[in-house]
Parts: sequence; structure tokens; C-alpha cells
Amino acid sequence: MNQPRLRELKVGESFKGFYLVKSKRVKQTREGSNFLDLDLQDSSGALNAKLWNDFEKYQGEFERGDVVKIEGVVEQYRDQPQIKIKQLRKSRPEDPVELSALQSTTKEDVSCLLREVKEILAEIKNPHLKRLTEDFFQDPSLVEKLTRAPAARNIHHAYLGGLLEHIWRMVKMAQALVPKIYPNLDYDLVITGTFWHDLGKIEELTFSPALSITRAGYLEGHIILGLKLLERKIALIPEFPDELRLHLEHIILSHHGEHEWGSPVLPSTPEAMLIHHLDNLDAKQAMVSEAIESDQNQAEEFTGYHPILGRHLYKRRPGDKSGREE
Ligand SMILES: [Fe+2]
Ligand SMILES: [Fe+2]
Repeated sequence: MNQPRLRELKVGESFKGFYLVKSKRVKQTREGSNFLDLDLQDSSGALNAKLWNDFEKYQGEFERGDVVKIEGVVEQYRDQPQIKIKQLRKSRPEDPVELSALQSTTKEDVSCLLREVKEILAEIKNPHLKRLTEDFFQDPSLVEKLTRAPAARNIHHAYLGGLLEHIWRMVKMAQALVPKIYPNLDYDLVITGTFWHDLGKIEELTFSPALSITRAGYLEGHIILGLKLLERKIALIPEFPDELRLHLEHIILSHHGEHEWGSPVLPSTPEAMLIHHLDNLDAKQAMVSEAIESDQNQAEEFTGYHPILGRHLYKRRPGDKSGREE
């Protein structure tokens, strides 16, 4: 698909192309007339777009998750580029649309991530935990979902393969930390719990083709979905010890760490406490990097305000030439 990539568009540029509708909202101008506020997406990222004209004509033409052909121009609004759409239509089957050019995906090699995660899991000695992870990998539909799932809808790793990347970083950190720094922790439980902590996301989030939350995701959420998946798998393993099952369930239930972060219970075992902190560390690190990489205001040293981190992030690197203070 030969068309401009959203992140490379410059202010003032007119362009045409097919893009994925990541979100669609009806809003009103101060004068009270309706307009469409969209986030358009391709593999380079997302850009906000406004459709001011012909609201009645366009409102029913497409939905979130559709691919649309647009003709637009890039304007600047509050120091950020924004698309003003001149014309729009929903894509047709005969259009030359390549979905892979519209979905964002991990920069990592998915098969390499999967191989390394499996290698670390293969070192587990506890026979029940070993069987549990082996059973997961013997289910091709679960493995397929794991390689595609994002780790979140918006906040961090919100792209194809994001969940696997998040799990890979966490198991690598656990592998490096636990034997040398926290040898009193149960290594097999930490590795298994880290691998399982977010697996409910494979049922919570989907690409259809835009990243969206499933019905079960809205109604139950990934913590409960992960717990149910774990229980289904444990039920197939004869004589899985009750105490071990409780510890593993607790890791899933407590990994968000605080009630206000969606955790039904607080981490109450050494392994659950560690996994919560690894989860938080990797999520925060990804938020910082993604905010800096996706910031489109070249003229500013700081990103726009990050609502979750509650701060602006500094974009200059230690090796950059010193900038001027304003
Ligand atoms: Fe989570
Ligand atoms: Fe997580």
C-alpha cells in the first residue's frame, strides 16, 4: 500500500489514503452543531482527525474498527498535528488495503520472544507447574492468541505482540533477579506466576481489526478471565496441590498491586509482591518510552502532559548537544 504514513505527515500537507478508525466520537461545536472526532491509525501510529462537514451523511457511513479512505489536510492544533478530513468513504472489498500496514505491531521478533520465554519456562522443576505451562503450549489456539495479543488497549504495549513482549521482559527480569538477589523466593512459582499474570488478556482484548475490548473483557476483565483460564487448566492436572494453586491464583488476583489500580486483593506473598513490582516497572517503562517516541511536537523538549504518569517527559537524551533554556 503506497500511501503516506500518519506519523510522517507534515503540517500543511494534503494527502489521500486508507486508514483504520481507532476511535469515533460524536462531539458538538460551541455553536451546537455535531462533528466527528476520530483517531486514525496505521502501522506508524495514530493521529487525531476531525470531520466538521456533512455530519448527517458521514455519521452512519462507518464505525470504529472500519478501514476508511480519506482525503485530508494536516493542520496544527495546540502544537499537535491534526487531520482535517475533506472527504471520506468506507473501504470496499476491491480496494488495495493491506491490514498489516494499518495495525501497529511489536518491533521485536515474536518467534524469538516466544522461544526465549519457552526456554525459561522449560527450566521449571516443580512437576505441577511444569505440566501447567506445558499444557498451555500444547494448545495451539492459546499460543496463537498469545503471539498476537496486545498488553493493553491504550496504556502500554497496545499493539500486536505487546503482551508477549511484556511477559518476555518480566520473565527475563525475574530470571535475573530471583536466584541472586531474592533466593528465598520460590523461583518456579515466580516464573510461572509471571508468565500467567496477564494471560486473561488473550480473552479480554482482540483485533477486529482495530484493537478493541471483547464482551467478556468488558464484563469480567483480564484478572477474572486469567483466573478462570488457570482453573480450567489446573482442573486437568491430577493432584495439583491446593496450596500451590492458591499461591498462583493470588499472583493473578493481586498483580495490579493496589485496590485503585483494579486489584481485588493486595499482594500478600513474597512472590506476588515481586511480580506486582515487575509488572508495574515494565508498564511504566513502556509508558515513558512510548510517550517520548510518539510525541509529535518537534519544537518542544518535553512531551505533552501524560495523564496516567501525571507529568511531562523530557525528550532529550544524555548524548544530545546542550539545548537552549527558554
Ligand atoms: Fe494486568
Ligand atoms: Fe502485566
